Amino acid sequence: MTTTLPSIAIIGAGAMGGAILNGLLGPGVSVASIRVTNRGQAKAAVLERPGVESLAIETTPDANRRAVAGARLVVIGVKPAMVPDALAEIADALDPDALVISVAAGVTTATMEGIVSTSVLRAMPNTPALIGRAVTGLAGGSRATGDDLAIGRALFETVGTVVELPESQIDALSTISGSGPAYVFYLIEELTRTAVDMGFSADIASLLVEGTFAGSIELLTASAKTPAELRRQVTSPKGTTERAIAELERADLKAIFDRATGAALARARELAAGG
Ligand SMILES: NC(=O)c1ccc[n+]([C@@H]2O[C@H](COP(=O)([O-])OP(=O)(O)OC[C@H]3O[C@@H](n4cnc5c(N)ncnc54)[C@H](OP(=O)(O)O)[C@@H]3O)[C@@H](O)[C@H]2O)c1
Repeated sequence: MTTTLPSIAIIGAGAMGGAILNGLLGPGVSVASIRVTNRGQAKAAVLERPGVESLAIETTPDANRRAVAGARLVVIGVKPAMVPDALAEIADALDPDALVISVAAGVTTATMEGIVSTSVLRAMPNTPALIGRAVTGLAGGSRATGDDLAIGRALFETVGTVVELPESQIDALSTISGSGPAYVFYLIEELTRTAVDMGFSADIASLLVEGTFAGSIELLTASAKTPAELRRQVTSPKGTTERAIAELERADLKAIFDRATGAALARARELAAGG
């Protein structure tokens, strides 16, 4: 099945904007036209390819305004603190029927709607977008129609799965799935360090830990069982795993995740307040 999308501009095609660009260039996606912008020319040059017009502010000072002219979809991929300035810069160059979608953490649709007069959406993808396996939260601003949300969904489905939700839940989602890949990689790093301390070489330690994470996720996906049931399958009564899990329970991993996600949520609120 082919996904057909209208003309798109990505303002700030860095890690996340670049991942979205990748999705647009993937098989089964047809886009009317794609323009992307960055500040530096070196970065812009890397993104230039057939079907993609890549502009740099360094060499084309009005790159952002040129990129959005005639674009039906405008993705804002700059850092949160830069979003208001980027929106103000493009505001009067936007097509009246453009749909502006920001992926910035913490920046509300109300803030965006205060700067541009078009319809806006807020999206929170995560880095597995790079391999088409993102989980993206999507919320509409006050002017967004059902059609706008459907276009936003189609855009982010090119890089994975989309969950539509009220904007009041976007910051919370960001602390779970937006930041989540970092939690997973951190768990992998720490278990690998433990394996090395037990005497395994770095290579073997990585193989043991990464293979275990990858295999466990695939088992979970393939099985009808819950994570708790699968955990119990590994945990024989009075066995070795039972002792290890008892230690993890004593450390109260849930309370640690509560504190970590709470800290991320507080930061999202600071960002929303312009901090
Ligand atoms: N990374 C994640 O996991 C993730 C997940 C969800 C959402 N997000 C959101 O995605 C946004 C970008 O994050 P990122 O990790 O992709 O950062 P990034 O790699 O630094 O990308 C930002 C890009 O914006 C470009 N840029 C800066 N100012 C610009 C301007 N005025 N006009 C046009 N382009 C400009 C930068 O180009 P130069 O390098 O040339 O300056 C850079 O390529 C953030 O708002 C973040 O909250 C990120």
